[in-house]
Amino acid sequence: MKVNGFLLTSLLGCSIATASSNRPLIHLTPEKGWMNDPNGLFYDRADDVWHAYYQFNPNSTVWAEPISWGHSISKDLSTWEEKGIAIASNDTNSGIYTGSVVIDRNNTSGFFNSSIANEKRIVAIYTYNTPTSETQEVAYSLDGGLTFKKYSGNPVININSTQFRDPKVFWYQPSQTWVMAVAQSQKYSVHFYNSKDLKKWTLVSEFKQHGILGYQYETPNLVQVPIVDSTNSTKTSKWVLFVSVNPGALIGGSFVQYFVGDFDGKQFTPVSNATQILDYGKDYYAFQIVDNTPSDEVIGMAWASNWQYCANVPTSPWRSSFSLARNFTLQYANTNPESEVLQLISTPIYNGLAKNGTSYHLQNQSLETNSSLTFDLSGASNFTTGLFDFELTFSSNSSAFGNADFAALDIYLKGVNTTEYLRLGFEGNAKAVYLDRSHTNVNFVERNPLFSGQVSVDIVPAETLSETVSVYKIQGIVDRNILELYINDGQFVSTNTFFFSDGNYINTIDISTEVNKTFKLIDFQAAQYST
Ligand SMILES: *[C@@H]1O[C@H](CO)[C@@H](O)[C@H](O)[C@H]1NC(C)=O
Ligand SMILES: *[C@@H]1O[C@H](CO)[C@@H](O)[C@H](O)[C@H]1NC(C)=O
Ligand SMILES: *[C@@H]1O[C@H](CO)[C@@H](O)[C@H](O)[C@H]1NC(C)=O
Ligand SMILES: *[C@@H]1O[C@H](CO)[C@@H](O)[C@H](O)[C@H]1NC(C)=O
Ligand SMILES: *[C@@H]1O[C@H](CO)[C@@H](O)[C@H](O)[C@H]1NC(C)=O
Ligand SMILES: *[C@@H]1O[C@H](CO)[C@@H](O)[C@H](O)[C@H]1NC(C)=O
Ligand SMILES: *[C@@H]1O[C@H](CO)[C@@H](O)[C@H](O)[C@H]1NC(C)=O
Ligand SMILES: *[C@@H]1O[C@H](CO)[C@@H](O)[C@H](O)[C@H]1NC(C)=O
Ligand SMILES: *[C@@H]1O[C@H](CO)[C@@H](O)[C@H](O)[C@H]1NC(C)=O
Ligand SMILES: *[C@@H]1O[C@H](CO)[C@@H](O)[C@H](O)[C@H]1NC(C)=O
Ligand SMILES: *[C@@H]1O[C@H](CO)[C@@H](O)[C@H](O)[C@H]1NC(C)=O
Ligand SMILES: *[C@@H]1O[C@H](CO)[C@@H](O)[C@H](O)[C@H]1NC(C)=O
Repeated sequence: MKVNGFLLTSLLGCSIATASSNRPLIHLTPEKGWMNDPNGLFYDRADDVWHAYYQFNPNSTVWAEPISWGHSISKDLSTWEEKGIAIASNDTNSGIYTGSVVIDRNNTSGFFNSSIANEKRIVAIYTYNTPTSETQEVAYSLDGGLTFKKYSGNPVININSTQFRDPKVFWYQPSQTWVMAVAQSQKYSVHFYNSKDLKKWTLVSEFKQHGILGYQYETPNLVQVPIVDSTNSTKTSKWVLFVSVNPGALIGGSFVQYFVGDFDGKQFTPVSNATQILDYGKDYYAFQIVDNTPSDEVIGMAWASNWQYCANVPTSPWRSSFSLARNFTLQYANTNPESEVLQLISTPIYNGLAKNGTSYHLQNQSLETNSSLTFDLSGASNFTTGLFDFELTFSSNSSAFGNADFAALDIYLKGVNTTEYLRLGFEGNAKAVYLDRSHTNVNFVERNPLFSGQVSVDIVPAETLSETVSVYKIQGIVDRNILELYINDGQFVSTNTFFFSDGNYINTIDISTEVNKTFKLIDFQAAQYST
């Protein structure tokens, strides 16, 4: 805990007002205290409300017991209202760890009498952690998800392990059974259980030692995802198993991998031995699927931080946010000209925001090395919200640059104080999208090399126009201290946080290039928003 000592010093260096002004507007944060994994994500179809619970300690800005389930609700998945602690531990050395929520419409658990409407029969299944054990417990809510009563027969699963956590439960319609995926973390095993009543659980299979193992597996999630194929109107789907690994990401720390396969109610069988990466950024972990979505679409959210530095990031009086909610499909996508793989396609959900400031839309613009395009988003009132998006479709002509060129299309994101900025872009020889966050809060970046300055993701063209000309698409959503990048309409995603030392927000997009006659902006749009 030495690192926390130094963080305190750096926090004292900035005023509270400055440090708290970088709170994102449409990414869920707790008012104060510590937050990590998303828990119990579900949609209430009766009231049209999204519920998010999370690993929470209101009394600490670093992870510390007792961990409870914090709770926030939203009408639109963009603006959130905090509702207080929903499930707390009865002991300061123990915690209510990650878990899930299901709607027990048919009262299979027997927890509900007729005064609780079918759509409000909310059951939470979570890990109870003590210094000597991790067991799975059940609790139910009689007040629409604000508070929960613990089942008197807890624990419902006890395998005498200290590393057995994160139950994710869903209803499997074909066999009318509840299914649980839960991690025996340090055995690299996802256990699958079945239950008829959410209380008695039977182990039915294990998915062991697949993909990247790292130190441990966490927060397994299994969901059926529709395949979108524009060339075939037959509706098909595959199952996707998500496994979070921490530490052990190839770029350091925490990450989420997934496997595509089939599921028969008991056993998950991958279609290949390939593991795939859900998000190529540094800040996307403990991904969870939302239960009971409006039309059974696949929506998920993650914790937007990394265990390598989550306790050190310069925010106060809270630490961490969620990612935006994403809507997922599977699509056949080329990984190279000869291979096609079923990949998850991520679409961010952020609707109904009010445009605020100047928005831009331009088309067919060539880029030269001696000119840059500058877009001031703040507008005539010179008001910067720090929340904006941009979408850039461009072509790259590889005959216009040499193998030794750094053939870059740069996008600089700058605030009023241009001493600190983000740089991102595309490089034509490597065919990679890069993000450089090393020119942000110097006190933090220089003192914590684990807060990787540069990250990149190798991509393929969205479209090939000729042997040398290819088209790529980069969409970015910036919300004060977090940037989510969606490349080629969500084929590649990279989520990364960043911090400016003076609470300065980005208000300008500057596009330039280091090579002539290479890049053409086919379409560019950008807009600033307020909530
Ligand atoms: C936070 O601290 C206060 C004061 O010590 C205590 O009463 C409260 O129970 C704590 N809350 C949690 C969730 O630990
Ligand atoms: C806390 O609750 C657990 C079950 O959730 C129970 O086993 C334990 O005895 C309780 N501890 C105290 C101090 O009440
Ligand atoms: C509830 O019961 C109906 C009718 O038997 C069934 O179709 C449905 O799958 C059940 N759903 C749940 C969540 O138990
Ligand atoms: C739910 O099941 C319990 C236990 O069987 C029963 O007591 C209760 O009446 C049931 N609730 C409804 C609405 O049927
Ligand atoms: C539980 O595990 C501990 C540590 O591995 C072992 O000492 C103990 O005998 C086990 N208890 C039971 C009931 O299996
Ligand atoms: C469309 O998909 C279905 C289901 O996978 C398959 O049976 C069928 O052959 C496909 N049709 C074409 C034209 O590819
Ligand atoms: C995965 O690898 C194992 C071990 O090499 C092999 O037995 C299995 O058939 C492979 N599975 C698939 C789906 O390729
Ligand atoms: C998710 O995407 C599907 C397909 O485009 C759409 O029908 C659904 O409304 C989306 N869900 C949300 C919550 O945006
Ligand atoms: C932008 O949002 C701010 C804060 O909500 C508001 O005060 C301002 O009037 C808005 N400006 C425009 C041009 O909409
Ligand atoms: C790129 O083209 C512009 C305009 O023709 C010219 O001014 C500039 O010097 C060129 N840069 C390079 C590196 O060739
Ligand atoms: C806009 O506001 C910033 C301070 O927020 C100020 O430094 C800058 O000069 C203003 N720009 C204009 C054009 O008024
Ligand atoms: C601009 O940012 C730099 C680096 O954080 C800082 O040293 C400088 O004081 C800032 N300037 C203003 C006018 O805030």
